[in-house]
Amino acid sequence: MTLDLESVRQHWDSKAAAWANHSDTLANMADRYNLPLLDSAGLQAGDRVLDLASGVGEPAFTEARLVGPEGTIVATDLAESMLVALKIRDKAKLLHLTAADMQRLPFADASFDRVICRFGIMFVPDPLKALRDVHRVLVPSGRAAFMVWGRRDEQTMFTILSDAVQAVTGTPPDDHHFQIFRFGDPGTLTSLFKAAGFRDITEDSHSFTPLAPLDMPFWHAPLEMTFGHIVDSLTVENQKRLEGEILRRLDSVREPNGYRLKARLHIVSGSYGK
Ligand SMILES: C[S@@+](CC[C@H](N)C(=O)[O-])C[C@H]1O[C@@H](n2cnc3c(N)ncnc32)[C@H](O)[C@@H]1O
Repeated sequence: MTLDLESVRQHWDSKAAAWANHSDTLANMADRYNLPLLDSAGLQAGDRVLDLASGVGEPAFTEARLVGPEGTIVATDLAESMLVALKIRDKAKLLHLTAADMQRLPFADASFDRVICRFGIMFVPDPLKALRDVHRVLVPSGRAAFMVWGRRDEQTMFTILSDAVQAVTGTPPDDHHFQIFRFGDPGTLTSLFKAAGFRDITEDSHSFTPLAPLDMPFWHAPLEMTFGHIVDSLTVENQKRLEGEILRRLDSVREPNGYRLKARLHIVSGSYGK
């Protein structure tokens, strides 16, 4: 299903505070996700980079580190509140911030060497339109790389949290949540890259199976970032029930030294193709 742009904007504007609260958690996990993505784009020192759907700053900060002082990072997002939070985090002023819907980029043709998007394209009403505009703003030697989550059944944490929310509220979480897995089937994003005119397209899948600590509520951050708007509307009693539902489900992936959490993602990249 497709959500309209205004409801997507409102949804993410309402999430900016939770994302800002947990930005350090995101930064700690950054290299694991970002380095394969930026490698796939062929990011180099001195590149002019457009980062789409930047949220509170990953992978934009990693890009800034890799392109160095000769490079430029333009970090963009649909939700103004995300950019406000990102501006506060960018104390060293490494990034140029601009509000932008990736379906209609406010940049001239051939402005960027690299375009990067981590976990953003799945929320866009018309992703093919977005990819065509990405293609337009690339220089002829340019390359774009996008990261998306795999299928829902390949993500332990998202599945446990959304099943637990459903057990307490009696209804599945809102449609914004299920958009996360829109490009979960391998090949689906690649076919849009082809339709948008990219060449030399690659798709790589990465699986992670981290062990989360038994003695820390590590799931607070993903719960607040993904379902904070639902948790806030629950009574204190139901919030306690939710915690119980989460812990009960985590027991199914418990090992002697931690909770085994599976995650899978895909990286699709392609070069300018005319
Ligand atoms: C899951 S967050 C990803 C943030 C960051 N890239 C990361 O990986 O941590 C998704 C972001 O996509 C943004 N977004 C959604 N639709 C968009 C659109 N049409 N154009 C640009 N950004 C969009 C949201 O505002 C949100 O900040």
